Order: sequence, then C-alpha cells, then structure tokens
Amino acid sequence: MAQKTDRLRIWDLPVRLFHWCLVLLLCVSYFTGEAGGDWRNVHLLSGYTILTLLLFRIAWGFVGSTTARFSDFVKGPRACIHYLACLVRGRSTFEAGHNPAGGLMVIVLLLAVLTQVTAGLFSVDTDTAMVNGPLSGLLPDKWSERITKFHWFWVNVLLVLVAVHVLAAITYLVWKRQNLIGAMFTGYKPRADVVAPGGREPALRFAPAKLALSLLIAAAAIVYFIVRVGG
Ligand code: HEM
Repeated sequence: MAQKTDRLRIWDLPVRLFHWCLVLLLCVSYFTGEAGGDWRNVHLLSGYTILTLLLFRIAWGFVGSTTARFSDFVKGPRACIHYLACLVRGRSTFEAGHNPAGGLMVIVLLLAVLTQVTAGLFSVDTDTAMVNGPLSGLLPDKWSERITKFHWFWVNVLLVLVAVHVLAAITYLVWKRQNLIGAMFTGYKPRADVVAPGGREPALRFAPAKLALSLLIAAAAIVYFIVRVGG
C-alpha cells in the first residue's frame, strides 16, 4: 500500500469542489435546457450557481492556493509547444498542478463556460416567453433573440471542448499511466509524477478555507445583484 509520503497534496478542496460541482451543474443545465417548460426555472437557477462558481474560481485564481493560481499555470505559447513536444517524444515531465497545455485548456474552458452563462443572462425563452434571462429586458428584442440563438449554438462548442478535455484526461491515464482524474477527487498525486528523481519537492502553499468561503459569499452576492438588476 502507498505510504503517505509517496504522494503529495496538490489540489485544495475549493478547486476540487469547484470542478465536480461545475461538472454536475453543466449536466443539469444541459438537460433542463433541453427539457424546456417548467424545467427552465431550474435551468436559470443552475446558471446562476455556475456563474457564482466561476466568479469564485476567477478570484481564487489570484489569491488562492499555489496550484489554483493563474500565475502557476498560465504559461506562454512557447512553454505549451515545448511541453507538447516533450509529450510526443515520450520524455518525462513533472508538474505539481496543471501542465502548460492543460493550463491553457483550463482557461479556454473557464472562458467558454463564462461566455455561455453570460449569453444565458440575456437570452429569452422562445417557447413560452415566461422564463427569460434576467438581463434580457435590457436589450432590444432583436438582440436578445440573436443572443438566444448564440446560447443554443455555444452548447455545441462546450460539448466539443469538454470532449477534448475528458479525452486528454483518459489519454493520460491510459498512455502515461497518470491518474489525473483520481487526483481531482483526492487532491493527491504520486510523488513520482510530481518530482523528478533527485529533484526538489515543490513548495506549495494552501490558502485558508475561510478565504474561500468569503469569496464564494461575495460571488453569490454579485450574482444576486445581477439577477435583481434585471428583475
Ligand atoms: C462539464 C464538463 C467539464 C468541465 C467544464 C471541466 C472543466 C475543468 C476545469 C475548469 C478544470 C480546472 C480546474 C481548476 O483549476 O479549477 C478542470 C480540470 C480537470 N478536469 Fe475537468 N471539466 C469537466 C469534466 C471533466 C470530467 C468528466 C473529467 C473526468 C473524466 C475531468 C477531469 C479533469 C481533470 C483530471 C482535471 C485536472 C487536469 C490537470 O491535472 O491539469 N473533467 N476541468
């Protein structure tokens, strides 16, 4: 059995909760959006919760734990290309948090989900016109209808991005024998995946849970305010 020292704590609880809640809520949003009717109310609530999570995650990317910070994983195109070249050549790479290519994908996913939620705020219910996005009234009808069409179209973009993301995680599991999915659940990675032989352990700092909770409450307050502006 693996000793505790054989693995290193990488992901904090807020990042893990954020990730799996986001997955769950995107599923809820997808099916309630497809179902229509009264389910649109659940669709809206799910969208508000996703927006809250996103605002929280953006703030956490600046003040959160080391591996949650954008400064830790947003690298330039050179770093991404170098990383991918190493991967293709089968060279070993060692990362605590997101690797440069994974980091880029994280930013793309966050922006793509944010785009979808923002469009949802301005969209209208084309079936019954009963359950509209809270900010749809701020725009002329023509624009809300356009944004609604975009909101429907963007679902497909999200599906493709998520498919690529999941496929990448499975490829790591099968090809590189690195269980990134397990790490997103437990928060721990095997030391051998993180530290090069003879190398130094990364100095990771974990931000306090109180800070995460305060940011989550602030994010929820902002979303509440946005919804009230439209209501
Ligand atoms: C609705 C679909 C999904 C979205 C929008 C999504 C989005 C994200 C985001 C934004 C992150 C970065 C986490 C952070 O730093 O806060 C992430 C990481 C990750 N996700 Fe997902 N995810 C989705 C589904 C999944 C699924 C189904 C799996 C498992 C098969 C998965 C596996 C992972 C893994 C392993 C990481 C960590 C990658 C790494 O080690 O760099 N994701 N995901």
